Amino acid sequence: VAVTVYDRISRAYDVLAERPERSCRERAIAALRVAVGERVLEIGAGTGHGVQTLSRLVGCDRQVIGLDRSAGMLKSARLVLASHPNVRLVRGDARRLCFAAGAFDAVLMSFTLELFDASDMARVLAEVARVLRVGGRLSIVALAEPRESNTITTLYQWVHAHFPSIADCRPIDLPAVVECAGFQVRGEETMRMCGLLVAVVIAQMPA
Ligand SMILES: C[S@@+](CC[C@H](N)C(=O)[O-])C[C@H]1O[C@@H](n2cnc3c(N)ncnc32)[C@H](O)[C@@H]1O
Repeated sequence: VAVTVYDRISRAYDVLAERPERSCRERAIAALRVAVGERVLEIGAGTGHGVQTLSRLVGCDRQVIGLDRSAGMLKSARLVLASHPNVRLVRGDARRLCFAAGAFDAVLMSFTLELFDASDMARVLAEVARVLRVGGRLSIVALAEPRESNTITTLYQWVHAHFPSIADCRPIDLPAVVECAGFQVRGEETMRMCGLLVAVVIAQMPA
């Protein structure tokens, strides 16, 4: 994943992406059913809007952690989250999470898992499984592979193949990826974002 791209676009990211992505991310957060007091991590927290919503849900005395590898995105997130003292932003790599086993009740990933190639996706999900407590939930929203031909997704995939720094998310079969990593899919839905298919999956590790 070319994190330097995110460093470069961090100040413009919200103008480019926040409007289309917001409703999909909010669905993924709703599916997570976060309760007051829970410990929640967003991986690839970007400019911090997901962390902001999560922090309202867990209550002021609890810490939500947003992790991102891009210093630029974290800088933008600090501005968005200036009035949220209970959140913690951490610079780190999703493939090697700097948290203890079982540290979280819930983990969110929004338009981030599909940035990784297949082997790194497996590493990221193994790390998620490690940092979730037994019975903890994972919610992911990602660009989805269309089940039938979809012109806009085909066009997006062409741009991704030729200009990966512009269209860096790769549509994936999200339920299959999550199950392959050993999670059980508890719920899934599909949405549209600018004509592109988007999947939301909620999953848990079997006890
Ligand atoms: C498409 S943005 C999504 C941001 C945010 N989740 C949202 O919904 O607006 C993907 C984010 O993943 C971050 N990222 C990329 N590779 C990463 C890695 N290896 N570890 C942690 N974050 C990473 C990028 O810096 C970027 O902020």
